[in-house]
Amino acid sequence: MLSVKCEGIVVVSIEATGRKNERNQLVMQAMKDIRVAMEAGSSLDNLNRAKAHLIALATQQHLFDFRDFPLPIDDAMECSYLVHEAPDGSYSLYVNSGAPHQYYAPHDHGDAWAIIAGVTGRERHQLYLRRNPGEPGDGPLVKKGEFIVAAGQAVTMQPDGIHEVNAMDGKPLLHLHLYAKNFTLQGERWKYDLEEGTAERFYLDELGSITDAR
Ligand SMILES: [Fe+2]
Repeated sequence: MLSVKCEGIVVVSIEATGRKNERNQLVMQAMKDIRVAMEAGSSLDNLNRAKAHLIALATQQHLFDFRDFPLPIDDAMECSYLVHEAPDGSYSLYVNSGAPHQYYAPHDHGDAWAIIAGVTGRERHQLYLRRNPGEPGDGPLVKKGEFIVAAGQAVTMQPDGIHEVNAMDGKPLLHLHLYAKNFTLQGERWKYDLEEGTAERFYLDELGSITDAR
């Protein structure tokens, strides 16, 4: 891991403890609903059904804010906080607090589907697929669209999805990131150079700090 400075959640007040309890209850319920929606696989329809539940959770802005999920206190791009995962590491939900300069070149999430729902701030997701599907590590991409994640909005990616992500407006952001499985289990991942049409392996230690905030 990079030596990113993230403060983590410091529960120091009855108010903060209350927020955490309320948040955990709502997260648990949302994850149950999302599991039901995704039971039959990661089709677009199922992802859209699941997305509605994550958007509903993300509307609880008082439970997902920078008090409990602080931004990096150094020049890192992002702090990531795990707030839920199943015992087998599936259905991993992170709160990501991103600095205004947050940018990730195109990358995949192994074979994990993903849903990203906005709480605060705007984040552009440019979506791609490999030009030659089924050939991991093959560089050329085809752009499939662009989506802005903000409050009340979410973007989904199927297991073959690739996204390029940047914070917008020169402001920090805080969003919910749900993956089919946690970062460690996402396995072989790739990042892409659009100009060169090449790919190279993406390693977990390129991410900033991940704090267990359950
Ligand atoms: Fe990503």
